[in-house]
Amino acid sequence: MTSPAGRHRDPPTTRTEKTLKSPRRTDPRRPDAAPDDPLPRPRPGTGPPAPVALVTGASAGIGAAFAARLAANGHDLVLVARSDQRLRDTATTLTRQHGVAVEVLGADLATAEGQRRVAHRLAEPTRVQAPVDLLINNAGSASAPDFADTDPTVLRAALELNVAAVLELTRAALPGMLARGHGAILNVSSVNAFLTLPGGAATYGANKTYVTALTKAIALTLTGSRVQIMALCPGPTRTDFHTHNGTREGVSPAWLSHSPEWVVERALADLHRGRTVSIPGLTTKLIALAGPHMPLPVTAFAVRRTRARRARSADPMRPRPGRCRGGRRWGR
Ligand SMILES: NC(=O)c1ccc[n+]([C@@H]2O[C@H](COP(=O)([O-])OP(=O)(O)OC[C@H]3O[C@@H](n4cnc5c(N)ncnc54)[C@H](OP(=O)(O)O)[C@@H]3O)[C@@H](O)[C@H]2O)c1
Repeated sequence: MTSPAGRHRDPPTTRTEKTLKSPRRTDPRRPDAAPDDPLPRPRPGTGPPAPVALVTGASAGIGAAFAARLAANGHDLVLVARSDQRLRDTATTLTRQHGVAVEVLGADLATAEGQRRVAHRLAEPTRVQAPVDLLINNAGSASAPDFADTDPTVLRAALELNVAAVLELTRAALPGMLARGHGAILNVSSVNAFLTLPGGAATYGANKTYVTALTKAIALTLTGSRVQIMALCPGPTRTDFHTHNGTREGVSPAWLSHSPEWVVERALADLHRGRTVSIPGLTTKLIALAGPHMPLPVTAFAVRRTRARRARSADPMRPRPGRCRGGRRWGR
């Protein structure tokens, strides 16, 4: 901990903070909810302790952007990832910039031991470790390049991280939040949850479908309570995700991708609106809308075309698919 949890402070004011602090519209499904519920804001001067957010995968990409935005908004933080040193550096920076208390929790969430340690932090707050008001299950990975070529232990590790850790941590955080009468959980899924794609995306999409479905079902269970849960389904986001996971070939065009800061801004705004599923960006929304209705043969056709294009760019002498030579179709 770089400073004691539960301390009082005047939160810095920024344009975005104004957005986050503006009273959200009352959720018609939860008319009893206070406008600022379930994420209590820190009050200037004396008042309740600052809210605490636990962010997994906080050392890079979307998780680091969540940590930075929440710190700017006055949240104390618990940062989780495998790389202790990067988390410590982030903690020092955020404490210096925003005066928030930051706790570092190094854990490999692809292991039962790592999941247990973080679950324990969520379920058993102590006098020094304040209860977590906002859990962001963000850490995730994809496997590459192809299902049949990928070591089963790699597939299982991705399943543990993308699915089991989300399940464990959500389960660990909920009872305390319900008992305290407020709290929120944000599960980072993906637009891939709405698509059926081959290769490394096959297991990744299936993992994220589980996260989205589980989140929606728990949201129904929480109806009438002051605890909220939301699935965030971003489209392509400019992070090092594909480099980290060796899925470089899955990278989308720049015009289709957003910055992690932009995604985080939209996600927190949707959380305050009481949404259960957040899909930032019009193009991403359209993909999520069309994806489940896409007939498999159409996707298979697109996959064949993409593979042929990739093979051609690797070998420019390779013939184009569908072109006729001597009355015979070739190149398929
Ligand atoms: N980038 C995209 O295009 C995109 C699109 C849609 C959804 N998403 C989702 O957004 C989330 C964040 O992705 P990102 O793009 O920010 O990825 P990223 O840049 O690769 O960051 C991943 C984060 O997760 C942590 N992490 C990885 N494996 C871990 C493990 N076993 N235990 C604990 N922490 C672990 C990493 O830190 P350490 O390596 O130090 O552990 C890092 O902090 C993921 O759930 C991803 O599926 C990403």
